[in-house]
Parts: sequence; C-alpha cells; structure tokens
Amino acid sequence: MTAPVRIGLIGTGIFASTSHVPAIHSIPERLTLTACANRTVEKAKHFATEAGLPESKIYSSLTELINDPEVDAIDALLPASFSASAVKEAVAAGKPIAIEKPIAANLELAREVVAVARSTDLPVAVLENFVFWNAIPEIKKLLPQIGKIVYFSHYCTAPFNTKSVYLATPWRLHPQHVGGYLSDGGVHQVALFTEVLGEVDTVSGMTTQVREQSGDVDSMTTTLKMKSGLMGTFTYTSAVSYPRINRLLIHGVSGTVAYDFANKTNSTITLYTDTDQAGTTKVVPADDHAGISAEFANFAEAVQKKDKSLLKVPAEKGFHHFAVICAAVESAKNGGTVVKVATP
Ligand SMILES: NC(=O)c1ccc[n+]([C@@H]2O[C@H](COP(=O)([O-])OP(=O)(O)OC[C@H]3O[C@@H](n4cnc5c(N)ncnc54)[C@H](OP(=O)(O)O)[C@@H]3O)[C@@H](O)[C@H]2O)c1
Repeated sequence: MTAPVRIGLIGTGIFASTSHVPAIHSIPERLTLTACANRTVEKAKHFATEAGLPESKIYSSLTELINDPEVDAIDALLPASFSASAVKEAVAAGKPIAIEKPIAANLELAREVVAVARSTDLPVAVLENFVFWNAIPEIKKLLPQIGKIVYFSHYCTAPFNTKSVYLATPWRLHPQHVGGYLSDGGVHQVALFTEVLGEVDTVSGMTTQVREQSGDVDSMTTTLKMKSGLMGTFTYTSAVSYPRINRLLIHGVSGTVAYDFANKTNSTITLYTDTDQAGTTKVVPADDHAGISAEFANFAEAVQKKDKSLLKVPAEKGFHHFAVICAAVESAKNGGTVVKVATP
C-alpha cells in the first residue's frame, strides 16, 4: 500500500478551513495534512490549532513550506494573481502542486501556468471540484436517449448574500482577476457544462455590475458555439434575488435532460422523451464534500503514481474554463461581438 501524500497547504483563509481540511481528512489513505503557511502568521497559527498541526509545521511563506522535506506536495489557496508564481516555485523545487480555481487572474498568467505544467512530469492540478460531481456521468448516460442534441441552456442565478463571508475578502472587493465574481464562481459552471458537452469555440456576451461590493461586473448572459457545432446559452449571476435557479437543460430531437442543482444535497436529473412526456426524475447521490474529496483523491493518486496524465483537471482544462469567462468579458466590452475562446 502506497503511503499517503504529505500535503503542505498555503493560504489558510476561509476555504482552507471550511472545505480543504475536512476534505483532506476524509481521505486519510490518500492524504495527510502535514504543514501550513500563510503570510499573516497569526491566521496560520489559528488554522494549525483547528487542523491539528503542531507549531513546528507553521510557516510564513511558500518557500519555507516547499523546503520542508516532510512536505511531498503543495495545496495552494491563494488569490488567482498569485497561483502562477506558486506553480513556478513548487515545480522548480520538484514538488507537485494543486492550485485553486480560477487558474490565474488573466490569460497571460494562465498561459504561464500551462507552460510550466507542460514542462514537467510533476502533477500540476487546477482544483475544480464541479468536474468530480456525481451528476456528470449520470447526465452523460442519459444523453443517447434524447437523440441528436440541438441546443443547451445553462442558467445559474443566486440571490445576493449580504452576509457572505467571501464578500469581505480584500482580493474579491478589489479584484485583479478578470471579471471578478464571474471568473471566481463562473468557472465552476463552465467546468460543469463543458464536462458534459465538450469545449466552447466562440462566445458572445453581455455583462453588468449589479452590486457595488462586487468590485467589477458580476452578472453575465452569453450565447455560445461549442467546438462540436452545438449552440447554447449560459447565464450566470449571484447578484440578483430569489429564487435560486441552477439548471442545465439539454434538448435533443427526441427528448430533454434537465439537471437541477439549486439544492446541492438534493439535486435531480429528469429525462423527458417523446414517450415519457411527464419525465422521470432521479435524485443524484450527494457528493462527498461537494466533490472536493474526489478531486483531492485524484490529485493524490497522480502524485503517488508519479503520473500527471491521471489528473482530471490538468492546467489545460483549467485554462479553458477560465478562457470562456475571459471571452465573455471581452465580448461584452466590445458590444457583444463574437470572441473565439483563447487557447494556451
Ligand atoms: N472551489 C471552490 O468552491 C472555492 C470556494 C471558495 C474559494 N475558493 C478558492 O480558494 C482560494 C482562497 O479563497 P478564500 O475564499 O479562502 O479567500 P481568503 O479567505 O481571502 O484566503 C486567501 C488566502 O490567500 C492569502 N493571500 C492573499 N493575498 C496574498 C498575497 N498577496 N500573498 C500571499 N498570500 C496571500 C491570504 O493571506 P492573509 O491571511 O495574509 O490575508 C489568505 O490566507 C481562492 O483561490 C478561491 O478562488 C474555491
């Protein structure tokens, strides 16, 4: 049995405590949280106490974390502007790294991440938990029953949450990453529908800023052409009001698949066909830690087997998710012109 990967975490903020620690602890056969680092060391100390790390394993920089010989791989939860330099430093030191989505703050930095990832045999993963959702294989299984697919609609709106802890994070209040919340949260949605339907070729979009606290545009609606030739629409905002609607509709010539995921622990897939017009609904089994346990298990397996080809979200895929949002933002700035999605 291979020993668990000893992981060193940098960026001991909200998501590290609420999601990474429980997910890492949920797969002890794959991962052991070994050390942490944060530029504000006080926060790292608090984090270490909660996560059960000794004081000797608290660092104030990525360099110190990487240089710990008991750290096999890095888990980076930094604002997107800092992920590219973290990847470069980890890879130069011979350590695999997983960075949180979005891959970078802009396309130039995103290309740097892909270039470094391509230059090494070390696994460089983009953490995109939506790719690991149980719903994806379930939806794919149903698609042959609706005939040729002609159109899809990914519609995702959420009420603005004035109490969200994320609103107060300085890097979200003054975003350096393209499209602010659109790339922060929107990449998850792109990850979801592209995992089912393939990559996007062109985007025509409109964006607007609804909330001052967003610091940038926070709402978008787009028309997409997929590389397969399929057409669709994608709407995303978390700056409006009730109801929350999270829905992927895929229409074929002889049926429709509807995935409703507003309630993450009780999401459903309904198959409508010419012979079952009322539709048959199936509840999707809840994802363990919102798919984060599965994404870490995937990263750990690639590290243990020293095989980066095992990664489900390598840098190129994270690049595509982000590039779709960049294309929408660029299109909107140019009055909705059709923009080809950038490649690395
Ligand atoms: N997959 C998901 O669903 C999901 C959900 C939420 C967040 N995330 C991702 O997780 C990451 C962290 O988000 P969060 O919500 O936890 O934010 P957060 O609480 O603000 O944490 C950000 C962390 O980065 C550090 N940091 C900020 N600026 C830095 C700089 N210039 N140099 C070095 N460190 C810096 C902060 O250190 P200080 O303590 O010193 O400020 C803090 O530890 C982001 O990449 C975000 O996109 C993913």
